[in-house]
Amino acid sequence: MTVQKSSNVVWHESRVDRTTREDIFGQKGVTLWFTGLSGSGKSTLAFTLEHLLIQHGYKCYVLDGDNIRHGLNNNLGFSDDDREENIRRVGEVSKLFADSGMIVLSSFISPFTRDRRMVREIHQSDELPFIEVFIDTPLDVCEKRDPKKLYEKARRGEIKNFTGIDSPCEVPEHPELVITPSTSPDKSATNIFDYLRDQHLIS
Ligand code: ADX
Repeated sequence: MTVQKSSNVVWHESRVDRTTREDIFGQKGVTLWFTGLSGSGKSTLAFTLEHLLIQHGYKCYVLDGDNIRHGLNNNLGFSDDDREENIRRVGEVSKLFADSGMIVLSSFISPFTRDRRMVREIHQSDELPFIEVFIDTPLDVCEKRDPKKLYEKARRGEIKNFTGIDSPCEVPEHPELVITPSTSPDKSATNIFDYLRDQHLIS
């Protein structure tokens, strides 16, 4: 639940409107929200897409779960409440980046439907486009990959509240895009690039 503790705060409007920003940048601010299990490939895809977009001259940036937990959210763990606060904060940051005209690639497990809905609403209330990308890699595939050996540790009980093992993951109901492991990260990045063009978010 969001509670505003600060009072006597006043919103200042920018002198630059969104259309002016979009015209100068040649792109629209947007958040692509990559959700999926640990090891599903969401960060690999987000960084591959970032590389592709930058090569074409677009301004974009990856907000990655592991990275954000080194700084902004280094005071949060993996309880349900901490995950909610993690997603709330990065949802707000994504919105600010998107408002600035950036293409934001946010990569978080974000296992709970209500948290993903909250982030979508944060964007919609500011009329910013939000694209949910579900990385639909089954648990057994993620566990076989286990690039950080975290599933092994979770199975041994050395990590608690591990998503997919002893913490739930709610499947997205209406994601705009679904990515399966049968498509390579390069091909998926190209597909999303084309989707952004079709949606007139990039020129
Ligand atoms: S989220 O659930 O709050 O969205 P987030 O994407 O920020 O998670 O962080 C997930 C990353 O933290 C995983 O990729 C993994 O490397 C690491 N991690 C460490 N402990 C856990 C855990 N208990 N559950 C899930 N991921 C964990």
